[in-house]
Amino acid sequence: MPETKPVQYGFSGYPFRKLSLIFLSILFLVVATTADDSSFPSSNTWRPHHSKKLTKPVVLLISSDGFRFGYQFKTETPNIDLLISRGTEAQTGLIPVFPSMTFPNHYSIATGLYPAYHGIIMNKFTDPVTGERFKRNLDPKWWLGEPLWVTATNQGLKAATYFWPGSDVPKGSWTCPKGFCKAPYNGSVPLEERVDTILSYFDLPQSEIPDFMTLYLEETDLQGHKYGPDDPRVTEAVANTDKMIGRVIKGLKKRKVFGDVHVILLGDHGMVTNCDKKVIYIDDLADWIKIPADWIQDYSPVLVMNPRWGKDVKNPGEKNAELVAKMNEVLSSGKVENGEFLKVYLKDKLPKRLHYSESSRIPPIIGMVGEGLLVRQNRTNVQECSGDHGYDNMFFSMRSIFIGHGPRFRRGKKVPSFENVQIYNVVAEILGLRPAPNNGSSLFTRSLLRPSGKTAQLE
Ligand SMILES: *[C@@H]1O[C@H](CO)[C@@H](O)[C@H](O)[C@H]1NC(C)=O
Ligand SMILES: *[C@@H]1O[C@H](CO)[C@@H](O)[C@H](O)[C@H]1NC(C)=O
Ligand SMILES: *[C@@H]1O[C@H](CO)[C@@H](O)[C@H](O)[C@H]1NC(C)=O
Ligand SMILES: [Zn+2]
Repeated sequence: MPETKPVQYGFSGYPFRKLSLIFLSILFLVVATTADDSSFPSSNTWRPHHSKKLTKPVVLLISSDGFRFGYQFKTETPNIDLLISRGTEAQTGLIPVFPSMTFPNHYSIATGLYPAYHGIIMNKFTDPVTGERFKRNLDPKWWLGEPLWVTATNQGLKAATYFWPGSDVPKGSWTCPKGFCKAPYNGSVPLEERVDTILSYFDLPQSEIPDFMTLYLEETDLQGHKYGPDDPRVTEAVANTDKMIGRVIKGLKKRKVFGDVHVILLGDHGMVTNCDKKVIYIDDLADWIKIPADWIQDYSPVLVMNPRWGKDVKNPGEKNAELVAKMNEVLSSGKVENGEFLKVYLKDKLPKRLHYSESSRIPPIIGMVGEGLLVRQNRTNVQECSGDHGYDNMFFSMRSIFIGHGPRFRRGKKVPSFENVQIYNVVAEILGLRPAPNNGSSLFTRSLLRPSGKTAQLE
């Protein structure tokens, strides 16, 4: 009788040899998939520097205002595609903060704070407590939190800004220095000139090159507002924005620093079509409830109300709650045209996910307007189709793009969508800065960035 080999069995009934093979393959898989983070070069790894012109981390943060997520599929965008294929992209776009407006969002990107905490709660607003009006004011008292250019200069780095909202406000060590702080905003300055100014900083001696730079482009927003997002002129603006990104890439390559610079391309919010058939008229509520026009500070895409009850009213908070309840009752009754698309809240009762209550600057009553709808007082100003943003940040149409390219960003990587308050920590981490308190998660940077020091290993 031939000798039978004793067969050893592992815990799950597999022969032991088979089991160790499985372990080995798992080990191999683990090693292979983490190789990206280790010192093994692979096709998916950031390649060694071709030059060592820059031996310090540099971040160039580019905003294309109103670049709705998906615009990159409207037309050929070879330059944006290059950043995407060799960088890290938010696969289904960057989520703006509420309200999805330009000033609140640019300043949330810069500070990592929700608008309630950084103070720029709308593009324009009246402080309900002091009665003062904010409209692009430069007084630092309006601009709370610590934007990246302040964090950088406070910690001994250099910064340069080009038209970024809030960047011309003196704060901390940031004085908005001439030559490195382009302001005030002037839409007539050609985009080429803005790009070339940024590129010229790379011609400075290394110690003079700003560690952190911002660049602001607005063509997608302008055309989107004027004609709505689905217009050939928006497609044209997208193509032109891509050309500007191409100009950045070409200029950096010419200076042999393209592989060294962290280029972040993003937008502040998206854009949606609104039309004259999709309007809620406040006057239509008048049969049930009278709302004085001067109680309304803003109509849409966010309805903002600050009721001025008479001196005889002892508990205005109670009256506000009654007003909200009555308005919602009428709006949902089916008797007001499009009424179902407006829901009114006491600010403390807004959905928590909006983080839009903890500021005395936010007026007591906020109306959330349906996607693409408008609120008007009456039918006198008939308006045709155009585009707008500012709506609930939950709407997909309000999303913008996020692409990070450069040494610390993984190549060809897609990450799930995230809120733009995370970006502050990401930039701080790249630049080796101590972040100020903010609403981003300190763990988030790990999902976006490779550990520091790896790039040096690769060289
Ligand atoms: C805005 O920029 C244009 C083009 O560079 C320039 O001619 C104009 O003087 C600038 N306006 C202001 C107010 O600086
Ligand atoms: C319509 O509303 C506007 C404010 O939005 C107001 O100035 C105008 O007087 C109103 N017209 C009528 C006829 O009520
Ligand atoms: C946002 O950050 C500020 C500053 O750290 C903090 O005071 C606030 O509680 C945070 N809010 C949320 C919703 O995390
Ligand atoms: Zn904008």
